[in-house]
Amino acid sequence: MPTRPLFPTLLYTAALQARGLGAFNRQLLHEIRQLRQDDTAGRRWSATNYPKGFTSYASANRLHRTSRTFAQLERKLAPHLRRFAGALGLDGARHKLVMTDCWANIMSAGAAHGLHLHPVSTISGTYYVQVPKGAPGLKLEDPRLDRMMAAPPRRSDAGSNQSWVLIPAAAGQLVLFESWLRHEVPANPARGERLSVSFNYA
Ligand code: NI
Repeated sequence: MPTRPLFPTLLYTAALQARGLGAFNRQLLHEIRQLRQDDTAGRRWSATNYPKGFTSYASANRLHRTSRTFAQLERKLAPHLRRFAGALGLDGARHKLVMTDCWANIMSAGAAHGLHLHPVSTISGTYYVQVPKGAPGLKLEDPRLDRMMAAPPRRSDAGSNQSWVLIPAAAGQLVLFESWLRHEVPANPARGERLSVSFNYA
C-alpha cells in the first residue's frame, strides 16, 4: 500500500514486570482499601463525582510521596515510562518527566468514569491491581473525531482507524498514553471491585 501513518497516536501496554507481582499487588490492594477507610475527604468527593466508586484523585493524589509501596510502584514504572517517552520522540535530556500525581481508584458494580483527559500533564496511565472477570477496560477515543465533519462512520473492521478502541484491563498490566487522549471507563457490570492506580507525568 502506498500509504503510511503520520502523527500516530501511540499507546503503551505491558506487564509491570515479568513475574512475582502477587505480594506487591496484595500490598497495594490492602493499602488502597485502607485508604478508602481513612480518606474521609476522598469518600465525600467520590460520593458526588465518582458514584458507586472511590477515588483519591482529589484528596490523596501524591501517593508516591506518602507510601513506600506506591513509591515502589513509581520505580517499577520508570523503565516503562522511559521506553514510551522514547517511542514518542520526547526530548528527555532537556525536559525530564516526573510523576506529579498518583492516586487510587476502586470501581464497584455499576461505577463508571466518563470521558475525560488529563490537563497539565504529558503522559498519563493506569496500573491495574485487581480486575474481576467481566470488568471493563479503558475506552479510548480517536483524537481526530472532532475534525471529521463530513466523514462517514468507520467500518467495524477499520482497525486502528476505529473511532473508539477498548483496551482490556488485567491485574499486573499497565497502560500509558499521552495525556491529551480522551478516555473513559465504561460501567463495571461485574460484582467484584476493580482496583487501579492512575498517575500523571509532566
Ligand atoms: Ni483518566
